[in-house]
Amino acid sequence: MNGATSRLARRVFSAGSAGIAAARRAPNGSTWLSASPRLLSTAASAGGVRGEVTAAPHGEEKTVASYWGVAPAKLLKEDGTEWKWNCFKPWDTYSSDLSIDLKKHHVPTTLGEKMALGLVKALRVPTDIFFNRRYGCRAMMLETVAAVPGMVGGLVLHLQSLRRFEQSCGWIRALLDEAENERMHLMTFMELAKPRWYERTLVVAVQGVFFNVYFATYLLSPKLAHRMVGYLEEEAIHSYTEFLKDLEAGEIENVPAPAIAIDYWRLPAGATLKDVVTVVRADEAHHRDVNHFASDIHYQGRELRELPAPVGYH
Ligand SMILES: [Fe+2]
Ligand SMILES: [Fe+2]
Repeated sequence: MNGATSRLARRVFSAGSAGIAAARRAPNGSTWLSASPRLLSTAASAGGVRGEVTAAPHGEEKTVASYWGVAPAKLLKEDGTEWKWNCFKPWDTYSSDLSIDLKKHHVPTTLGEKMALGLVKALRVPTDIFFNRRYGCRAMMLETVAAVPGMVGGLVLHLQSLRRFEQSCGWIRALLDEAENERMHLMTFMELAKPRWYERTLVVAVQGVFFNVYFATYLLSPKLAHRMVGYLEEEAIHSYTEFLKDLEAGEIENVPAPAIAIDYWRLPAGATLKDVVTVVRADEAHHRDVNHFASDIHYQGRELRELPAPVGYH
């Protein structure tokens, strides 16, 4: 779904008429219901102030008056139950394309590319030692890093667009979408594994170093930065393939999929961890393609804004 369609969908989904739930059809063909926020008390309504009803302790309902009128409309799922996620909306969900080629690889040709691949391979050694085959924990920790490059790339291109008075051709949106998608991987795995105190400390330290190193690399050589991410995604595909092998062998329990994953990837109600890892691996393959494509554009001496970004590529 491109940005304009997404915005249109957002308006459609949130435009409930007072007190009536209305069926809406999303651009992707699925139907969702939007219902207006419940009305305020008489006093607040008389003053023309709209409000949001939120859950309060002891089962009471507490009304928060909003002069600003920004309280989002309640959304209903196709089955009539309330949409319970605020971190993503129905128009952010998708069915993963599992037919993607998982074996694609960019053969490094330049010294920079060989160094990028060598660095990524080298980073696997301490990761293997630290996590061994604890793939749930490994996935959760690595997703804290994987969500950084898209945000950095999107930030740099955003500032560049402002400074140069130029369009980004969708690349800002594509990279920020990648960051958000990676963060959803983290939100999913958080439901299955909880970080211990020393793992939280490690994440803080790694984020501090990785953000700055990647930011500097992106400023100096975006083609190398995207190539390195392409190789990181290739490693992620390998890692999730090993995860799946352990699930199939019964080494890791194939527990039911978290509810957040079922709604985000539109999985069937009886989906399991194996289904989740399969769609996450497909996401990583899509990120691999986007980043190698971005690097190829730079290697051809062109800028990203010269070619349309693969927005909505899942
Ligand atoms: Fe990921
Ligand atoms: Fe990824």
